Amino acid sequence: MAGEELSLERVVSGVEASPLSGAELRRFAMELLSQVPGYDWCGVYRLEDGFLVLDEYVGAATDHDRIQVGVGVCGTAVAEDRNQIVADVHELENYLSCSVLTRSEIVVLIRRDGEVLGQIDVDGHEVGRFTAADEAKLERLARFLASKW
Ligand code: SME
Repeated sequence: MAGEELSLERVVSGVEASPLSGAELRRFAMELLSQVPGYDWCGVYRLEDGFLVLDEYVGAATDHDRIQVGVGVCGTAVAEDRNQIVADVHELENYLSCSVLTRSEIVVLIRRDGEVLGQIDVDGHEVGRFTAADEAKLERLARFLASKW
């Protein structure tokens, strides 16, 4: 499906219909997610011993492959135990830049039985790209990834 554009609803439904599991499923999910317009970097981080470890991703390579809890948008999500939607990353101090092109970001926690397993992180080049509607669908995706972790 490379090059096609997909709605977030179709991505989530497509992932839910997949027989894959584990890292293969996460890879597939990130490949589909990166085809949503404005989803310019899509990745999963796993939470391991107080650090977020970069898992499957689609987009430019990043130096931030291991992020301490509390640091950056990703680490803040875990420290505060809540999803993050950042309309304009230029207005944040506790932010780790992966690309100079990134202007907005959403982080949705992946939980199983209340335990945080990791997170979905998406960057956009557009200010204010992500809304509560994105969050709701990414939460559905996160629940499915958790069930096949
Ligand atoms: N911007 C994130 C770091 C991860 S990159 O966006 C891929 C942060 O501030 O935690």
